[in-house]
Amino acid sequence: MIVFFSGTGNSHFVADRLAELLSEKCPTELRGEMLYDPMKCRLSAIGEKRIIWVFPTYSWGVPPVISRFISEVNFTGAQAVTHIMVTTCGDDIGQAASQWRKLIGRRKWISGAAYSVTMPNTYVLMSGFDVDSPELADSKLEHAPERIDEIAERIKNNIEGDLVTKGAWPRLKTSIIYPYFKKFCMSPKPFKSNGRCIGCGTCSRSCPMDNITMEEGRPKWHDRCALCLRCYHICPCDAIEYGKATKDKGQYFLK
Ligand SMILES: Cc1cc2nc3c(=O)[nH]c(=O)nc-3n(C[C@H](O)[C@H](O)[C@H](O)COP(=O)(O)O)c2cc1C
Ligand code: SF4
Ligand code: SF4
Repeated sequence: MIVFFSGTGNSHFVADRLAELLSEKCPTELRGEMLYDPMKCRLSAIGEKRIIWVFPTYSWGVPPVISRFISEVNFTGAQAVTHIMVTTCGDDIGQAASQWRKLIGRRKWISGAAYSVTMPNTYVLMSGFDVDSPELADSKLEHAPERIDEIAERIKNNIEGDLVTKGAWPRLKTSIIYPYFKKFCMSPKPFKSNGRCIGCGTCSRSCPMDNITMEEGRPKWHDRCALCLRCYHICPCDAIEYGKATKDKGQYFLK
C-alpha cells in the first residue's frame, strides 16, 4: 500500500511509478479532511504487504502535516506490516529518515528502509532559494526514474539499509534548523494575490488543505496551511506572492 502527500507533483510522480513497478494498487493521496483532521481518518493495511510513505522533505525533516498524520491516524493493521519511507527533495534530506523512524516507532509500528529521490526544487520563500534552472530541473527529472527503479528493486527484494542523500551537516539541519523553520517560517499570513489575479479559483480548488476560499473573486488564505506551495506554483497567472520573498522567483509544477 502506498500513501502519499505531494504539493507540486514530484512525490505524486514517485508514488505512481512505485505503484506500477511494485504492482501496488492506486496510491492513496493524503489531502482534505484526512490531512487536516487525521483523527477522523481511518485507513486499513489488512491484506497489504507493506506501507510505503511518500512525501517531500521540508527543511531537512518530515513535513509537520505528515508527522501529525502519522501520529494520529487510525490505521488498522499497520502494526503487522513493515513501513518504508520514500521522500523527494530538491537536494538533500538531512536526518529526515531518523525523524520518520521515531514517528513510526512511537506508534509501535515497524520501520524498514528509507529512500530519497532528488527532484526539482520547489522552495522559493527565502532569499537565495529559487526553482532550478530549466536545465537542472530537466536533468533531475531525467535521472529520477532510474533512482525510483532502484528503490523498487530494493523493496521487492527486501534489501535492508537506507539509500538517502543526507547532504552536509545533517544533524545541524534536522535538529536545529527544522524546529526553527517549523516555528517561525511556516505561516501562511504573507500569501496574497496581486493585480495579475483573474479570479480563476485554481489555487483554491487545488489546495490539499482546503485552506483557500474565494472571496469577491480573489483568494483568501486561512490558517491551516502545510506550506506545500501548490497554490503559488500552480497559479496560471503567476499572481501569488509571499511577502517580498517571491519577487522574481520562478514556478514549477509537475503534471
Ligand atoms: C516548505 C518546503 C521546504 C523544503 N525543504 C527542503 C529541504 O530541506 N531539502 C531539500 O532538498 N528540498 C526541500 N524542499 C524541496 C522539496 O522537498 C522538493 O522539491 C520536493 O520534491 C517537492 O515535492 P512535491 O512536488 O511532491 O511537493 C522544500 C520544499 C518546500 C515547499
Ligand atoms: S490561481 Fe492565480 S489567478 Fe487564479 S484565483 Fe488563484 S491567484 Fe488568482
Ligand atoms: S494554502 Fe497554498 S501552500 Fe498552504 S496548503 Fe494550500 S496550497 Fe499548500
